[in-house]
Order: sequence, then structure tokens, then C-alpha cells
Amino acid sequence: MAMYSKKVMDHFMNPRNVGEMENPDGVGEVGNPKCGDIMRMYLKIEDNIIQDAKFMTFGCGAAIASSSMATELIKGKTLEEAWDVSNKAVADALEGLPSIKMHCSVLAEEAIHKAINDYRQKQNLPLWGEKEEE
Ligand code: FES
Ligand code: FES
Repeated sequence: MAMYSKKVMDHFMNPRNVGEMENPDGVGEVGNPKCGDIMRMYLKIEDNIIQDAKFMTFGCGAAIASSSMATELIKGKTLEEAWDVSNKAVADALEGLPSIKMHCSVLAEEAIHKAINDYRQKQNLPLWGEKEEE
């Protein structure tokens, strides 16, 4: 298990914020077509702040650790700040991921984006694009 940092192992063995959320304000589900792993992110949003985040991930250890860390990183942040949490930020917070496992952290970034846009759609707000210029 030397390829994984202690932080990754910690978040894999003791994932934070696992489970479903009742009446979430936003939900984002993403799948990775290559490995078949699935991640679902639930958000509770009030006054543009992420009050709570939970996740369910059917996937590898790195995907579970990434989801766990991602929920920790976005809690208490504004939607704008949470949107800017990149997969690299998630991987850095985990003290790195092996390069073949970086795509697992991409799932977390995509799930956050989808959940935020799900919320924005429900609020009749314009959706945010994946890139600035879009
Ligand atoms: Fe099997 Fe991710 S490829 S768990
Ligand atoms: Fe696919 Fe980790 S192997 S998300």
C-alpha cells in the first residue's frame, strides 16, 4: 500500500460525510466510463454557502478518499469557492495520488460541479460552464 499516502488511507478507511442526504438542495452524479466507478454528491445550500455535503461512491479507494476529502474541502465554502476546488486541490489535500489514480479525483471535481449546477437549475439560475470562456 506504499503507493498511497497516509491521508489517502485515512480517508479510505474512515471516509467523512458518507451517506445519503434527505432533501438535498443539489445532487451530482458522475461516472467514469473507463473504470465504471460512480460517485454521487449531495449538497445542502443556504445563502450561497455549502452548509453540508455528503457522498456515495461505488468505486476504488482513491475515488472514495477523493470524495471524502472533497466534501471536507467544500463545506462552509461559497458556491463560487466550491466550484473552484479542482481535482488537483483534492489530490494535494490528500498529499498526492499516484498518477494512474488522478482520474479518480477528477470524478470528485465533476460531482461538485454537477451538484452545484443541479442546485442552480432548481433555483432558475444560469448554469455555470466548465471553463471561464464558455
Ligand atoms: Fe475497479 Fe475503480 S476500477 S474500483
Ligand atoms: Fe476509477 Fe478510481 S479507478 S475512479
